Amino acid sequence: MNSKKLSFVIPCFNASKFINQNIDRLIKFLKKKKYKYELLENGFSSKDIAAGRKVLNSKRITMAENTRKFEDAFAKKIGSRYALMVNSGSSANLLAAFAAGNILRKKRYKIGDEVLIPVLCWSTSVWPFVQFGLKPVFIDVDKNTLNISINDLKKKITKKTKAIVLINVLGNCSDLFEIKKIAKRKNIILIEDNCESLGSKLKNKYLGTFGDFSSFSFYYSHQITSGEGGMITCNSDEDYEILFSLRSHGWFGGTRFYSRKFASYNKYAKKFSNLDPRYIFSNSGFNLRPTDIQAAIAHNQFKRLDELKKMRNINRNLIIKKIKNSKSWNNQFYFFEPVKNLEPSWMGLPILLNEKYKKRKKKFIDFLDNAGIETRPIISGSFVNQPASKLYNLNKNNYKYPNAQKIQDLGFLIGLHTKKISTKNLNLIHSAFFKIDKIN
Ligand SMILES: Cc1ncc(COP(=O)(O)O)c(C=O)c1O
Repeated sequence: MNSKKLSFVIPCFNASKFINQNIDRLIKFLKKKKYKYELLENGFSSKDIAAGRKVLNSKRITMAENTRKFEDAFAKKIGSRYALMVNSGSSANLLAAFAAGNILRKKRYKIGDEVLIPVLCWSTSVWPFVQFGLKPVFIDVDKNTLNISINDLKKKITKKTKAIVLINVLGNCSDLFEIKKIAKRKNIILIEDNCESLGSKLKNKYLGTFGDFSSFSFYYSHQITSGEGGMITCNSDEDYEILFSLRSHGWFGGTRFYSRKFASYNKYAKKFSNLDPRYIFSNSGFNLRPTDIQAAIAHNQFKRLDELKKMRNINRNLIIKKIKNSKSWNNQFYFFEPVKNLEPSWMGLPILLNEKYKKRKKKFIDFLDNAGIETRPIISGSFVNQPASKLYNLNKNNYKYPNAQKIQDLGFLIGLHTKKISTKNLNLIHSAFFKIDKIN
C-alpha cells in the first residue's frame, strides 16, 4: 500500500495527512511482527474453543442460557448481587455512565455535574461520562501504585462533584475502603472501572465490588478473555433493572431467549395493557449485548481464574527476581508493589525506568522491540496529552499531573503470561534490559 492509494481510500478525511506521513510505521504495525516475548500469548485453551464451538453448532448464538449462567457464576464468585454481561469493558462503562444518571434512578447525576477521574486512564473510562454530559475533572495518581491519588482526590471534591470513576490499574488499586467512605459521606456515586483487575482482592474483598457500578473487560490481554466481552456489576434491584433495559434497546425484561421478571412488571402490565407484554420498551437504550459464544468462552476461562492469577504471579516474581538479583542491578528499573492488604491478580508487568534514563526511553523501547520483546505504554499515559482530550478541551482548568506525566515519560509494560516463563525468555529479558546502560 502506498500513500497515493491511502488518500484515495480516505479522501477528505482529516486524519489522512497524519496517516500518510506515518504510513511505514502503520504498515509495520498492521503486519505485526513476531515477538519472542509477546505482551500476551494465545489465551485460549482447547476447552475454551470447544465451549464456543458448541454454542455455534447449536445455531443459537445470540445472548441466552450461557450468558445467564456465566453472569450468575460471576456474581456469586466475586460477591456482587448482580452481574450483567456486555460486549466489551467499554460498553460496561457506557452502561454505568448512563445508568447512574438514568431518569428512573432515585439518586442520579445530571448533565453539567462534575465527575472525578484519574488522569492515567483508558479512553473509554472517560468518554461515556463526557457523552452523558458530565464535566470531567482529572485527578493525579499515586506514583507507587499507579492508582488514583487520594490526596489529590480530596482536594478536587467540590459541591459540583457527583461521581467518582476509579480505575484499578493492572491488578493494583488505591485504598478503596477509604474512597468508598469519602463517597458515602459526600453522597457521591462511585463507579469502579475494574477492567484491568479481575481477581484481585483487597482485605479479602474482590475488586469490582466497591462501586455502585463496577466494570470488567474480557478483551484479549485481560485476566480472562473471550476476544471481546465485558461485565458490569451492581447491588440494587433498581440498578439491575435499569442496566438490563439499557443493555438491550430499552427493552423491559429482555429478549425472547433471555428475559427476567422484574418487580415492576405488574405496574407496566396494568398501565400498558394495550401492548404486547413481551415487547415493552420502558427506558432509553443501546444494544450492548454479548453473543452466547463469548459468554461460553469467558465462562470457561473464568473457572480457571485462580489458576491463571497464580501463574501470572509466579511469572512476575521470576522476572523481578532475575532482574534484581543480577550483578548488573543498579536500580535501573522500578517495579510497582501491590498496595497494602492486596492479593493481586496482575495484568501485565508495568515498569518505570530510573529518572536518569528519561532521554533514552524511546531508544530503549525500540531496542526491546528489535530484540523481540513487545512493550506498550502504561494504559494510555496521562490522558490530557492525547489529541482527543485536547480536541474536546477536557482539561479545562489546566491542572498539572506530575505523577502521571512521570509514568508516561518513564513507564512501559511487558506481558505476564499464563504458562510458566521459559528460562530462554527470562534470559532474553535479563540481557535486553541491562543494555539500557549501553544505549545513548
Ligand atoms: C481501564 C480500562 N477501562 C476500560 C477498558 C475497555 O475495555 P474493552 O477493551 O473491553 O472495551 C480498558 C481496556 O483495556 C481498560 O484498560
